[in-house]
Amino acid sequence: MSLNGTRGLNSYNILSFLFFKLTILLLSGAHLCHGCYPRMFIFGDSLTDTGNFLSIFGDVPMLPYGQTFFHKATGRWSDGRVFADFIAKELGMSLPVAYLNGKTAEDFLYGANFAVGGATAMNHSFFQEKGITVADPRVGFLALQIQWFKQLLTLLCPQSDCRNILESSLFLVGEIGVNDYNIPASSFSVPFDEIRTFVPHVIQAIGEGIKELIELGAKTLVVPGIIPFGCTPYYLTMFRTENNEDYDEVTGCMKWLNEFSYHHEKLLKEELNKLQRLCPEATIIHADYNGASIDIFKSAERYGFTNPLFACCGGEGRYNFTFEIPCGDERSRVCADPSRYLSWDGFHLTDRANELIVHRAFSKIIKRLDVCESSPDLKLIADSMDFEL
Ligand SMILES: *[C@@H]1O[C@H](CO)[C@@H](O)[C@H](O)[C@H]1NC(C)=O
Ligand SMILES: *[C@@H]1O[C@H](CO)[C@@H](O)[C@H](O)[C@H]1NC(C)=O
Repeated sequence: MSLNGTRGLNSYNILSFLFFKLTILLLSGAHLCHGCYPRMFIFGDSLTDTGNFLSIFGDVPMLPYGQTFFHKATGRWSDGRVFADFIAKELGMSLPVAYLNGKTAEDFLYGANFAVGGATAMNHSFFQEKGITVADPRVGFLALQIQWFKQLLTLLCPQSDCRNILESSLFLVGEIGVNDYNIPASSFSVPFDEIRTFVPHVIQAIGEGIKELIELGAKTLVVPGIIPFGCTPYYLTMFRTENNEDYDEVTGCMKWLNEFSYHHEKLLKEELNKLQRLCPEATIIHADYNGASIDIFKSAERYGFTNPLFACCGGEGRYNFTFEIPCGDERSRVCADPSRYLSWDGFHLTDRANELIVHRAFSKIIKRLDVCESSPDLKLIADSMDFEL
């Protein structure tokens, strides 16, 4: 089977005609594609941001962020690609534009990525009420990203209720939540026991976001959990101790911090089960980044990670991470081969780690998702012209 119908036609004419047709279809909110999602809307933080933070702040993150794969800073918090890139790849989809980098409906043909480095799941008022400073409120939070999404809908389907767009799209809600814990932890003024009491509130904020998207008409939502804190140089440095019993014998990760991440994961899964019962019209799928990461840390050597607990980029220290000299600081150093490290800068992961985590987490749920079996552009184009692929 092939695109027989296109043979003999001038490809330039086809493309310009298609683009016109696609635009019309997009604006009318019609279902573009069967068997795979024509577009994806992504919410999250720096583990998923592909340019929004850079667009807001203009000068961070800069090289060496982006040195692998892109060979320039793109706004991603990694040496290379982030979760969003690999999810698109895993599902055969095109990566949507970072929301703040798009303007016209055509820019958002493949959806939008609303993730911003530093964003929290909870509203900033939660932290302000507790006297915890959010470094720069412009990084926003989940409810704000959902407001952006609603604004975008008025551009994408001004004439209709957007139902077709919402029904046919894939929604990636997260990972989000790590900053709700990182912000108070890095203030060094909130004891971790108190941070632990934030977990149900973080989960509630994520749950409310999901509910709002479903009320708008979202049908397919993937919700990833957080990475294991106890394996990050950031937290390993913050809570370093001489007590060997605090560390996992196999991975060297800090046990109580991983237990904390698992606690978040457990409550998230309970919330998703509850929402699924409440909203049978939607499909809510948990993506287990936490379990996938732990598996990879356990077999780090097998994956070629010779330095699983060290930061590739940063200052010198037990884990080659210090709070004083972050990656990107002129005094920081970069390792020779980032693919041998899981951690890029102490908290964010390397290109290779992101790839493996996404692959592992999505291999468990891929059966519940529609994968684009051919190049998505071709399929989009074929479907919009009623070709059989
Ligand atoms: C969070 O912020 C959003 C947007 O500013 C607002 O609509 C919502 O009511 C807030 N929720 C809470 C719990 O404060
Ligand atoms: C840690 O940093 C030191 C100093 O830059 C470097 O010599 C060493 O190779 C690094 N260790 C790892 C595992 O990256």
